[in-house]
Amino acid sequence: MSGVPGYRNNPTEAWDPEAATDLAEAEEFLWLFHSEQPSAGPLQPRLAAVRDEIAATGTYTHTGPELQFGARVAWRNASRCIGRLYWNSMLVLDRRNSTTADQIFADTVTHLRIASGGSRVDMSSGVELPGAGNGQMRPTISIFPAAVPGRPYARIWNDQLIRYAGYRNVAGSVVGDPRYVEFTQAIAERGWGGKGEAFDVLPLAIETPQEGVRLFELPDAAVVEVPIGHPDFRWFDELGLRWHAVPAISNMRLSIGGVNYPCAPFNGWYMGAEIGARNLADEDRYNLLPVVASRLGLDTTRESSLWRDRALVELNVAVLWSFERAGVRISDHHTESRRFLKHIDKEQRAGRTTPADWSWIVPPISGATTPVFHRYYSEDDQRPAFYLDPIARQLGQTGRLDAPAPTGVISGCPVAHDVTAIGRASVPAPRLRPAVPSMSEQAA
Ligand code: ARG
Repeated sequence: MSGVPGYRNNPTEAWDPEAATDLAEAEEFLWLFHSEQPSAGPLQPRLAAVRDEIAATGTYTHTGPELQFGARVAWRNASRCIGRLYWNSMLVLDRRNSTTADQIFADTVTHLRIASGGSRVDMSSGVELPGAGNGQMRPTISIFPAAVPGRPYARIWNDQLIRYAGYRNVAGSVVGDPRYVEFTQAIAERGWGGKGEAFDVLPLAIETPQEGVRLFELPDAAVVEVPIGHPDFRWFDELGLRWHAVPAISNMRLSIGGVNYPCAPFNGWYMGAEIGARNLADEDRYNLLPVVASRLGLDTTRESSLWRDRALVELNVAVLWSFERAGVRISDHHTESRRFLKHIDKEQRAGRTTPADWSWIVPPISGATTPVFHRYYSEDDQRPAFYLDPIARQLGQTGRLDAPAPTGVISGCPVAHDVTAIGRASVPAPRLRPAVPSMSEQAA
């Protein structure tokens, strides 16, 4: 059951990594694939083959076209994502043969270079081509091996491929992103040392059944960053702010036709408010509104001066302007809201409903000035889909397997699950999701 009444019509059950692939779900997916893509050929022979394969092995292997379609539809069904208009153009990189941590890391670096437009890929082989890309950011997913029922699987512990470390000093204040203090501490215990600055890119923690968890430092070429300035205020540069160009979620499980891909990092591009109204603004993140307000000379002694709101607008102007200046793709929340309604419209004309979570779709700034505010949405849990499992969430937050199990439905998790890691189970106590969902955990 979801912790939020009415949030979903059909709460999703927990993933059981021991369970054999569900035949009914496989059939439903294959039916969907063949009905949306008639060029895939007749459904019946494929159904028969999949039935046999599941009976013999407990699961089945997707064809390349099924994998591509499934991943794209999982994005189409991501009810917390406002940016779904381009779902059908996501670049799907089939990495099902990459099993070692070194391979997964190398493919992840390639992913980031392609996603940020710094590189090109041969579409059929997934091999990176020589020469530069066109500089255009591109929604991309890399799909590593499916979880085989009952067997351990590889995963990336980080919740995003690129994130900044957080360091708590003796006085109790934090340098960097407070959200990653625990994660940073945990990997420091594994030997990682950061510079101790405000924007240190965290290494990737890649776990494979053979090698356990290993840390990998991302090369500079894989991490595009944008320095944040302001079109009107010179002093903005002095704040020394920056943000990474690519938001790439790396701890959600891609679920296609009963087959689960626990390691399938994907990215879109940023909507400015994710950075300007959440990452840099939230009190438990970079908490910059008081700083910006004081530089603006606003009266911070009275709420009714609306200093927070005024600082927030300037911070968001700064983010959008800086990305545009740097030639890095970004969009504002007004444009993205209109695109989303266009998407719903288009989907409707194709005979499909668009599931959406109002509390995540409405931007964290100027909500009612965007058209997405003034309506409600279907809350169905449609598959294929991306899910955030409790153990994956815990690893992404704490960097530890032995941390206390998460206590129930935490903000951002679409589902209350009971079963966690392979070989470990915990029953979380119910807890209400906070009224303000954490957009920083949003799916692309
Ligand atoms: N909100 C997250 C962040 O600030 C990113 C979530 C995905 N966003 C996206 N535009 N694809 O890093």
